[in-house]
Amino acid sequence: MSKSAFANRLIDWYDRNKRDLPWRHTRDPYKIWLSEIILQQTRVAQGLPYYLAFAKRYSTVKKLAVAPQDEVLRLWQGLGYYSRARNLHACAKKVVDEHNGKFPETYEELLELPGIGSYTAAAIASFAFNTPVAVVDGNVFRVLARVFGIELDIASPAGKKFFFEKANELIHKEKPGVYNQAIMEFGALQCTPLNPMCKNCTLARMCVANQQNLQTQLPVKLNRTKVRTRYFYYWVVRNGQQLLLRKRASGDIWSGLYDFPLQEENKSLNTRQLSEKYGLTNIDRVSKEYKHILSHQKLVVRFIEITEVNTKLKKQMDTAGLNSYTKKQVEQLPKPVLISRYLQDVGYL
Ligand code: ADE
Repeated sequence: MSKSAFANRLIDWYDRNKRDLPWRHTRDPYKIWLSEIILQQTRVAQGLPYYLAFAKRYSTVKKLAVAPQDEVLRLWQGLGYYSRARNLHACAKKVVDEHNGKFPETYEELLELPGIGSYTAAAIASFAFNTPVAVVDGNVFRVLARVFGIELDIASPAGKKFFFEKANELIHKEKPGVYNQAIMEFGALQCTPLNPMCKNCTLARMCVANQQNLQTQLPVKLNRTKVRTRYFYYWVVRNGQQLLLRKRASGDIWSGLYDFPLQEENKSLNTRQLSEKYGLTNIDRVSKEYKHILSHQKLVVRFIEITEVNTKLKKQMDTAGLNSYTKKQVEQLPKPVLISRYLQDVGYL
């Protein structure tokens, strides 16, 4: 099958099967950019309400640029990967300050903006401006690896280079935007990671994986990053309805979000060990162990409710930026979902 037949089949399939999604009805680069940033590492079902909320609250890039950062982070709350939200805000400001509020049109200029990598630059350039540059995301890796029987490791530099070249050879030159949407949608709906629907597949006859039964082995992804386990002990100091919180600094997870003063340990400690280590005599309650999974970290977390901070504890506590907040303020502040979960569990929120 020729290159153009591959592209045409995908586009035909897309016309018949695509989901009706709001960002597919616009050529506005702002809305396309917004949807792509939200959808990175996020499924459509989860990202859609966030897209609608952002598009409603900030109908233009200018409105987003002048919004307070806490408000943007609060609206993002629950999506995770908060650096994406901070970059979203920084990018909006840069578009307003340096591009007069209009997104640049070329792939190269788009790449200069915060939070925009090769995938997002290609998506905006092709969807909004019909530039023939291929998007390569997890869906595209999977479709190409299977259809063309490519056994290179998609995580290796050589593998990445090969897939990028292949994707750019195959792109439909007149309809690059539709083609890019089509191959991603095909990966999301038909050529799925588990149980791809090969029986009724328009590419089945040309697909190497289908012919040789390699669907479960392709794509090849080696050297997966290890997941690190971290043990967090939060001090919950409550004075009536007021809580002590601090804004997290940059350089670690959740920067810009608010949480409690934190003690990190290298192993799990029980209540007795905690009392000995920190001289606690006034522990009201130690919460159950919460598990929270991030992309490369697993957090094991307990919340220790105390009424008074003794001097031994004070020395250990990182008090930078610590403030007392009312219940209303706590509700409004951007917080990691884990903190909201805990506050709901104890009936505070
Ligand atoms: N995932 C990332 N970008 C997407 C898009 N434009 N449509 C559907 N899912 C996506």
